[in-house]
Amino acid sequence: MKNKKTTKVLISLMLILAMLVSVACGGNGAEDETPETDTVVEEAEAEETDADESESAAGLEGNALDDGVLDLGTNAAFPPYEFYDGDQMVGIDIDIAKAIADYLGYEVKIHDMEFSNIIASIESGKLDGGIAGMTVTADRLESVNFSNSYATGIQSIIVTKDSEIGSIDDLEGKKIGTQFGTTGDMYAQDDFGIDNVQAFDKGADAVVALLAGNVDCVIIDSAPAQSFVEADDNLQLLDTNYTEEDYAIALTKDNDTLLEEVNYALEVLTDDGTIPAIIEKYIPAK
Ligand code: ARG
Repeated sequence: MKNKKTTKVLISLMLILAMLVSVACGGNGAEDETPETDTVVEEAEAEETDADESESAAGLEGNALDDGVLDLGTNAAFPPYEFYDGDQMVGIDIDIAKAIADYLGYEVKIHDMEFSNIIASIESGKLDGGIAGMTVTADRLESVNFSNSYATGIQSIIVTKDSEIGSIDDLEGKKIGTQFGTTGDMYAQDDFGIDNVQAFDKGADAVVALLAGNVDCVIIDSAPAQSFVEADDNLQLLDTNYTEEDYAIALTKDNDTLLEEVNYALEVLTDDGTIPAIIEKYIPAK
């Protein structure tokens, strides 16, 4: 993270000076090699962090992050976008983040946190961005930049198989479980009143509450809804009439170069098939 433009300018000036001095001395001494050695080290680090995505196109040298580390927040309880396989965070967003960082020559650090804290952490400068199946909304655009969209989602309702709820029209007066701070949570509060909504830190916790009979349904994005329903025979899925949402990477408003680089990487990695292959890996076309 950190956008130390001045440091960068200073380093460039020092390199130019070093080159001038070595030319003036007519030398091809050790000073000449310093910049090259640095570059090699950076490339080696970038490769190391992402050996498994190595087929992606040879990348640019990103310039937006002086320490070369892309710090992104996520909430890894949102399959198939981010979840745990043992102690490994995996999923569409994790692979896309790695592919982008790899392409731009950054190291990527993904921080698992509460969904509702991601934007605040970007605003306070603790993170460069967030990748979390995050929907682009007008409200959020006041706090962060959003990359171009890489996927879409729609809100779904999960109910138990024996539920009397057959559609969104049956939700009046019912107890609705949501994930705190998500679009599903906002829609549910707007349409059915805050008193009828119980928000959980994780979508998975809302599903546990549904199975325990503590809420009557869960409103959550379609892809995780599908995963939760597939994992439990007692659950079924209903559609809503909420409109399709665009998922994008949230990025700090303080670094427009980062936004440009991420959009460029997204475009290249979509065109060369890397991102479609990642999505197909986790959501196979039927
Ligand atoms: N798309 C919804 C939103 O942006 C939910 C995202 C939740 N993501 C997560 N990783 N828990 O509000």
